[in-house]
Amino acid sequence: LKKVLIIADPGVDDAFAIMYALLHPQIEILGIVCEYGNVSQDIALKNTTYLLDLAGRNDIPLILGAESPLTASPPEFFYNIHGLHGLGDLVPAIEIPEYIHPFKMVYQLIEEHEGDLTIINLSRLTSLALTFIQAETNIEQVKQILVMGGAFFVPGNRTPVAEANIYGDPQAAKIIATYGGQVTFVPLNISNRAVISPEVTKKIVAQNDTPFSKIIQPIMNYYSKQYETLLPSINGAPLHDVTLFSYLMKPDLFHVVDRQVLITTDGHSKGLTYADFRPNPEYIENYPMHQIIIDFNIEAFIDDFIEIMST
Ligand code: BDR
Ligand code: CA
Repeated sequence: LKKVLIIADPGVDDAFAIMYALLHPQIEILGIVCEYGNVSQDIALKNTTYLLDLAGRNDIPLILGAESPLTASPPEFFYNIHGLHGLGDLVPAIEIPEYIHPFKMVYQLIEEHEGDLTIINLSRLTSLALTFIQAETNIEQVKQILVMGGAFFVPGNRTPVAEANIYGDPQAAKIIATYGGQVTFVPLNISNRAVISPEVTKKIVAQNDTPFSKIIQPIMNYYSKQYETLLPSINGAPLHDVTLFSYLMKPDLFHVVDRQVLITTDGHSKGLTYADFRPNPEYIENYPMHQIIIDFNIEAFIDDFIEIMST
């Protein structure tokens, strides 16, 4: 059983990642930190509440994440891509619970599950960076940190060079890359190819007997429509955030390389992630070695996604 703490900004692909994790028999979610990103922090909380409610899993702690980047600059949101309420055309009719766990619960979970907890970061790196700036927390206590972020020598999705999760708070990303020990980056290089076509969505919906059967099609319709302009060459839309869970559960489907990851925090290339992919890379002293996922078995990814999302 994999114990995970999720940090997310649902958002369509985050919502699919959370649904996948909820449905997976080998994943135990210990908490979900909701932060700003695709949508505002309160909408992230609302959408997560909605998904947990559908699944009958209101026992999973909701934790209050960051509201804005570390520099306190105003966050940008992406309702154009994710829908007015962050879940396509859906309007989740639900209230945020009165009690949301304070952020310090993250430290408690890390302590309590020392050596056994994986952090899955699906949004900006702000809350994650706060964990390691403010705490008491020793990074060594976390088993593994997976970050959806980066674009290594491929076009970005927020700027020509930057991926949205890194661009949204590059200072936080830099803190994690510099002090966060070994982090596994799951970049656009693979997540842009984790494309769910309308045919796959139809198949899942047809076989679906889960609490999510009614929401998959409308969420996906909206999101895919936006991707017709964002990535015109694909048929469907990429579920970036799902790839982290698929890597967690089926690492053999993914090709991982060890490289140091550097982050640019300002200027024209703000949010750029880079690594030395030359045959004989030069390494920086006293800087952690990270993992970058650069390739994966797309067909096997899709098969696994269909299997977990259907019953
Ligand atoms: C990442 O940014 C967010 O919009 C998505 O949910 C994903 O985590 C892709 O760049
Ligand atoms: Ca996300």
